[in-house]
Amino acid sequence: MDELFQSVSVGALELPNRIVMAPLTRGRAGAARIPNDLMVEYYQQRATAGLIITEATQISPQGAGWVDSPGIHEPPHVAGWQRVTEAVHAEGGRVFLQLWHMGRASHPDFHGGELPVAPSAIAINGDGIRTPLGKKAYVAPRALELHEIPAVVQQYARATKLAQEAGFDGVEIHGANGYLIDQFLRDGSNQRTDRYGGSIENRVRFLLAVTEAVVGAWTADRVGLRLSPTNPYNDQRDSDPAALFTHAARELNRFGLAYLHLLEAVPGHMLAAPGPRVGPQIRKIFHGPLMVNGGYTTDSAAAAIRDGEADLVAFGVPFLANPDLVERFRSGAPLNAPDFATFYTAGPKGYTDYPALELAR
Ligand SMILES: Cc1cc2nc3c(=O)[nH]c(=O)nc-3n(C[C@H](O)[C@H](O)[C@H](O)COP(=O)(O)O)c2cc1C
Repeated sequence: MDELFQSVSVGALELPNRIVMAPLTRGRAGAARIPNDLMVEYYQQRATAGLIITEATQISPQGAGWVDSPGIHEPPHVAGWQRVTEAVHAEGGRVFLQLWHMGRASHPDFHGGELPVAPSAIAINGDGIRTPLGKKAYVAPRALELHEIPAVVQQYARATKLAQEAGFDGVEIHGANGYLIDQFLRDGSNQRTDRYGGSIENRVRFLLAVTEAVVGAWTADRVGLRLSPTNPYNDQRDSDPAALFTHAARELNRFGLAYLHLLEAVPGHMLAAPGPRVGPQIRKIFHGPLMVNGGYTTDSAAAAIRDGEADLVAFGVPFLANPDLVERFRSGAPLNAPDFATFYTAGPKGYTDYPALELAR
């Protein structure tokens, strides 16, 4: 387990441990999407993480699609987040903001009746989506016109500048889980015939344009990126994930990012995809720090670092249920059980009331 407690350089930061809090959408920001006292408390409780990555945060009204998730596009969002970053820093922690555009994984109810935008007009085949007006069926999005794409890329750059203003230590580009960037990457959701679709080079173009814009808005050593090469969530699929994501990793080397973060669950985990994982190939190609996530335990995380599979490991559900996860890992204390029923509900229950170790005893 000692491996988890070795310090590590991640871009501009030196992290005291390799235990990262994975991004977790919790839907507690309210309709105005402004971080509030409850969110300040929640993040402050988890500040002993080597690095906190915040919940996915919408970069624009166009990027919206989750009820009561936070934003980073208006001055009150910046002021709200500033209180979160100050609280985390006061506890000696570090925090990156995850930049989110949901693309087709949204609904007209979030957009005044207009269609959400995506690379192609292909609806998610799924269970439906929770909107401010109740649970609805997915609809086919509107394919972005070629001339609209640069303005979408600029939304990421503007949000990055606002994150910097709010006192974050960096940003994580959300390129995973079937949201806009991932929709461009994978051919199940991208059937464009212009230079953003078709070949792998073309499908990676949007990701690279966003990365370049975000790096340009701050510096590469403040920018991480999350990908999920084999995650089927949000009805995602690709005909050759290994070829696609190894190409992306090779191209990403040119930026010198703070880290690359892969969600690819450990074999046997319920989130694990049936085919082989791409992570081991990416590890050989990508030059910067690699973070892995998806069903890791203390032991499997320490083994991943020891075996050179990764430099850092992110924990989602374990951090959700254990504000003092780092201390519990260090002492070998048992973990609180997560309460799945309160993952996305309002209020402190199942959010800020998981007991820390002293109280748990
Ligand atoms: C409640 C919940 C919310 C999540 N929200 C996000 C999110 O906002 N952004 C993201 O990239 N992944 C999100 N995920 C995925 C987690 O970051 C993580 O990949 C997943 O929980 C697997 O890791 P774990 O086994 O350590 O929990 C979420 C997962 C859960 C359970």
